Amino acid sequence: MTQPNMELQELIAKMEQRRAYVEAGGGPERAKKQHEGGKLTARERIEKLLDEGSFLEMSTFVQHGRNRLMDGVEAPGEGVVTGSGTIDGRQVFVFSQDFTVLGGSLGKRNALKVTKIMDLAAKTGCPVIGLNDSAGARIQEGVDSLSGYGEIFYRNSIYSGSIPQISAILGPCAGGAVYSPAITDFVLMSRGSSYMFITGPEVIKSVTREEVTFDQLGGADVHTRKSGVAHLAYNGDEAVLQGIRDLLKYLPQNAREMPPVRDCVDPADRRNDKLLDIINPDQRKPYAMHEVIAELVDGGEFLEIQPDWAKNIIIGFAHLNGQPIGIVANNPKAMAGTLNIDASDKAARFIRTCDCYNVPILTLVDVTGFLPGTQQEYGGIIRHGAKMLYAYAEASVPKVTLITRKSYGGAYLAMNSRDMGADVVYAWPTAAVAVMGAEGAANIVYRKEIKEAENPAAKRAEVVAEYKETFDNPYIAAAKGYIDDVIAMEDTRKILIQTFTMLRDKEEVRPYKKHGNIPL
Ligand code: HXC
Repeated sequence: MTQPNMELQELIAKMEQRRAYVEAGGGPERAKKQHEGGKLTARERIEKLLDEGSFLEMSTFVQHGRNRLMDGVEAPGEGVVTGSGTIDGRQVFVFSQDFTVLGGSLGKRNALKVTKIMDLAAKTGCPVIGLNDSAGARIQEGVDSLSGYGEIFYRNSIYSGSIPQISAILGPCAGGAVYSPAITDFVLMSRGSSYMFITGPEVIKSVTREEVTFDQLGGADVHTRKSGVAHLAYNGDEAVLQGIRDLLKYLPQNAREMPPVRDCVDPADRRNDKLLDIINPDQRKPYAMHEVIAELVDGGEFLEIQPDWAKNIIIGFAHLNGQPIGIVANNPKAMAGTLNIDASDKAARFIRTCDCYNVPILTLVDVTGFLPGTQQEYGGIIRHGAKMLYAYAEASVPKVTLITRKSYGGAYLAMNSRDMGADVVYAWPTAAVAVMGAEGAANIVYRKEIKEAENPAAKRAEVVAEYKETFDNPYIAAAKGYIDDVIAMEDTRKILIQTFTMLRDKEEVRPYKKHGNIPL
C-alpha cells in the first residue's frame, strides 16, 4: 500500500481526533462516576447488547444547536450514541443516552439522532431498542427540547405495532420523558440504579407533603410490582441487556414477518404424565399453573412477562416445537385466579402485543369470575375487563384455549371462549364450564326449595351435589360444540403442537376501519 500524502494524513488524523473526542463522551471522571453508581456507560451498553463488532454508528459528529445558554457548552456526541447492529445475527437499531454528557439531557439535535434511527428502523422493518439514562429535557434548550421529545413520542406511536420497540431504563427517566418508554412494547429496568416518575420527590413533598426516595417512588420494584409500568426488573445493566436479547427471540423483525422458529430437541410427542400429579380435581385445591406451563412447553422454558404484578394472571412467551407462542393463564394460586382491573389490563396489553407481532396465543383457563367488590366496580372493572374481551376478539393470530379446571360466567368469555374467537378450544376431564359455581348457583336456582326444606343445610348439600353432577363438567359445553375436544392430560403437548401447526397459515379478514376503538 502506498503511503498517503501528508495532507491526506492530516485529514485522517483530524477525523480520528474528532471521533476519539466524541467516543470519550463526558470523559473518564464522569465514566468513573457512572461505574461507581453500578452503571455502564452508553457505549459499553451498546457493546454488551449487540453481537460483537456489529455496531455501525450514525450521526457521530452531530452537535447541539447553539443558543445563548448553550454557547461554549461541550456536548460530545450530543449526549446520545445511535446506530444499528445485530442481535443473534438479526438487525436492530439502538440509541443509548449518555449520562456523562450533560446528564444525557435531550435537546433538539439529540432527538434528531434518535428519530433518524427510528425512521431507518421503520423503513427497513427492524426493532428499535432505547437505552434510557437521562436527566430529561435539556433545560438550556427550552421549547426545542420539548419539541425533540414530541418527535420521538410521535414516532413511538406511529411505529407502534409495526416494528418492535423495547425500552431499557438504566438511570433517570423523569417528567414527560417517561412517555417514550411507556408507548413502547416492553420496558425493562435495572434495580437500584434506575427510576421513572412524572414528578420527583421534591415536587411531591412540596405539593402533598409525602416524603419518598427516588427508589420508593419510581424504582424497578415499584414499576414491576405496583404500577405495572415496567415489564421486567433485573440486577444491573448487563442483566437488562441480556433480557432484551432474550425477549427478541420471541419477536419477529416487524409486523409483516413471523417470529423466528428455532430448533427443538424436546420431543413434540413428549407425554405429560407429570400433569396428573400437578392437577387436583378438587376445585378448591389450588395448583401451580407455572408448573403446568413448564410441563407443556419446549424444555420447560417460559419467559414470564410482568411476573410480579397482577399475579392472578400469568403472561409470557415460550416455544412449542420451536415455534414462539404467547401464553395467557389464570393463576389459581393468586386471588383464586379471579380477574380484576390490573389482570385485565395486563392480559389485554399482552394479547395485543402478541397479535401485533404474529405470535400465536395459548390461553389456559381456570377462573371463577371477575373479582367482586366496590373497589373494583368504582375502579371501572367493566371498562378494564372489556379490554380483554376486545383484545381477544381483535387478535387474528392463531388462538387456542385449554380449560384446565373451572371456567365460569363472564370470565369464561374473557378467557377467549370459542364465541370470542378462539380457533380451537380444548378441555381436560377436570374442566367445568358453567354460569357460576355450584354453591352460588344452588343458592339462586333452589332458593325456595332450600328455604322450605325441613333441613335447609342438608337440602342445600343435596342440590349442590346434584348441580355439580349435572353441570360441573366439560361435556355439556362439548356436546354443544363450545369445546372441540376433551383431551387426556398426558397428550396435551402433542395435541397443542398439532393444533398450532394446523393453524399456522390461518388468515382472518376484518371489516374496513381506520382502527378499532378499544375501551381504555
Ligand atoms: C441540562 C442537565 C440537566 C438538564 C442535569 N444536567 N440535568 N443539563 N438539562 N435537565 C447536567 C448537570 O448540570 C450536570 O452537569 C450533569 O447533567 C449531571 O447532573 P448531576 O445533577 O450532577 O447528576 P446527579 O447528581 O446524578 O443527578 C441526576 C438528576 C439531576 C437527579 C437527574 O441532574 C436532576 O434532577 N436534573 C434535573 C432533572 C429535570 O428536572 N429535568 C427536566 C425534567 S422535565 P455537569 O456539567 O455539572 O456535570 C422533562 C420534561 C420532558 O424532562 C417533557 C417531555 C414532553
